[in-house]
Amino acid sequence: MATSTSKVVDIHTHMYPPAYVELLESRKSIPFIRRFDGAKDPRYIILPSEAESLDKITAAGSSASANLPGRPVTSHYSSLAQKLHFMDTHGIDISVISLANPWLDFVASEEAGETAKSVNQEFSNMCASSPGRLFFFATLPLTAPPETLLAAIGHIRGLRYCRGVILGTSGLGKGLDDGALVPVFRALAANRLTIFLHPHYGLPSEVWGPRASAEYGHVLPLALGFPMETTIAVARMYLAGVFDAVPGLRMLLAHSGGTLPFLAGRIESCIVHDGHLVCSGKAGPARRTVWDVLREQIYLDAVIYSGVGLRAAIDAGGGEDRLMFGTDHPFFPPLNSDEQGEWESMTWNATAVSKALGDGSEGARKVMGGNAVGVLRLWEDS
Ligand code: URA
Ligand code: ZN
Repeated sequence: MATSTSKVVDIHTHMYPPAYVELLESRKSIPFIRRFDGAKDPRYIILPSEAESLDKITAAGSSASANLPGRPVTSHYSSLAQKLHFMDTHGIDISVISLANPWLDFVASEEAGETAKSVNQEFSNMCASSPGRLFFFATLPLTAPPETLLAAIGHIRGLRYCRGVILGTSGLGKGLDDGALVPVFRALAANRLTIFLHPHYGLPSEVWGPRASAEYGHVLPLALGFPMETTIAVARMYLAGVFDAVPGLRMLLAHSGGTLPFLAGRIESCIVHDGHLVCSGKAGPARRTVWDVLREQIYLDAVIYSGVGLRAAIDAGGGEDRLMFGTDHPFFPPLNSDEQGEWESMTWNATAVSKALGDGSEGARKVMGGNAVGVLRLWEDS
């Protein structure tokens, strides 16, 4: 499905449109944006694991000397000019932009449909203002009633630059193995809308131990919690038979599929050695294995920052045709150099592609952009 294009495409790149930023500024609990005395930029506090440092600051009554929670909200979050500057600086021809976590997971049911509509329209307008350079993954109103949720898919499928949806792992509140989501997956598949699966909730904070919030920054939830969350969500979908129920479903997994490439063999072994699954006929010879699903219905992004991880993703996911380059901009800005210059999220991930597949090779061209152009139909204008 890859084309021979040499275009560089970033399929993992986020935007927070101004109306979404205002929504976060109006909130008092996580997720929210808040100013702290003495800090240049407002702080964006989203991760459940950030609640503890927020509580400490609130209890101390001052933020001057404390370690501020969250991350600074710079112009990189919501300025389209800044996104285009980032693309130009790094030789990115096309970006498939998406709202970042936690999307609309916190929006009240009765407001979710309209909020999704306006956010998706904002994304659509951004893309239209830079034709050929921007496409987007839309956002679904998951907290809305089922008919509103399905109507949202009807809305986005008509948006010219929309190529799929970005989805977290909570689904309708019970995860992605919830049977109530099958009609949603069917509607997405029928409209050739790819799901970009992205983590947010990580693992429970206790897992990180008592020293984490004061001493370890965001390293454990981001480096380990995020990928495990994705791994667990997809494993649950697989065990629930979602991929068989919706064979047209196509998913693009963030962060090279979490730990799926590494753990797929172990999942397989646990299935064929599970008495319950074997007795209930769920482990029989007709079963499509995790490997089959990875090769047939799943794409992985290349946001893994090392050739070693990327090689595993290529081997597990059915080859170089199923990986797509990404940067995760505006997260992980450089801390010791100019933010308007080069970001390691580009250079590390691009170097990993060269290391795993060979500098300038056909495989590298596919991962850097050819696969995205083919799979997401980025040549089509509508
Ligand atoms: N941190 C987040 O919260 N989201 C991302 O996409 C990356 C880092
Ligand atoms: Zn991301």
